[in-house]
Amino acid sequence: MRKQIVAGNWKMNKTESESIRLIDEIKAQKLNENVNVFIAPTFVNLASAVKSTKDSGIQVAAQNMHQSSSGAYTGEISAGMLLDIGVNHVILGHSERRAYFGETDQLLNEKVQAASDAGLQIIFCFGEELDDRKSGAHFNIVKQQLSTALFDLDKSQWSQIVLAYEPVWAIGTGETASPAQAQEMHAFIRTLIEDHYDSACADGVSILYGGSVKPANADEIFAQTDVDGGLIGGASLQAADFAAIVNGFE
Ligand code: 13P
Repeated sequence: MRKQIVAGNWKMNKTESESIRLIDEIKAQKLNENVNVFIAPTFVNLASAVKSTKDSGIQVAAQNMHQSSSGAYTGEISAGMLLDIGVNHVILGHSERRAYFGETDQLLNEKVQAASDAGLQIIFCFGEELDDRKSGAHFNIVKQQLSTALFDLDKSQWSQIVLAYEPVWAIGTGETASPAQAQEMHAFIRTLIEDHYDSACADGVSILYGGSVKPANADEIFAQTDVDGGLIGGASLQAADFAAIVNGFE
């Protein structure tokens, strides 16, 4: 059975004390124990988040990393540095990294390989923009993103991959993909993986939906056959909302 996952991407929010407070508030909530819960604070708050979540079952992910293991890359962070402070997961390919920091699927392929080689688990984000959706190009765009960034991985490396389909038009806009739209795309993604690898690989990979997931719509989205959870932005910054989304699986 595939893992059910809800991950909170805190983006560039929360100081260290605010981050610790939010973790304490999340820990005080009753969370569905069948769901793997992740939070992704900013780099500077990762180490304290690892300490604060110890023995809670909540896992900590980074929001990005550099593809090199070390060297003259001012301002960057390597996979080894994350692992060294107890961070075993990294989000790669978020649309904000793509849009504001020029990350391409070629570069993301390097990052994924570096993260995989180092032994990190990867939450890989992708998704089409509004114009792609309007013109009907969304399936091709997603196929291209996955092919370029991921399809040279060995089958064995897929045990390190979680996918997060995040249509850019649904991120932070309040406009969610309908459950049917999410299911249609997730099923398409699974078929792509089956065609390129095999059905065991396709059936094993958790595919999360991200984009304006809230307590009010989480259960309907998570009820879709090929939706295995969510990557949550805004609503992950409120403990009660985040917990309600995690419990959207019940
Ligand atoms: P929102 O939930 O705020 O739309 O953000 C989604 C997202 O980008 C998660 O990575």
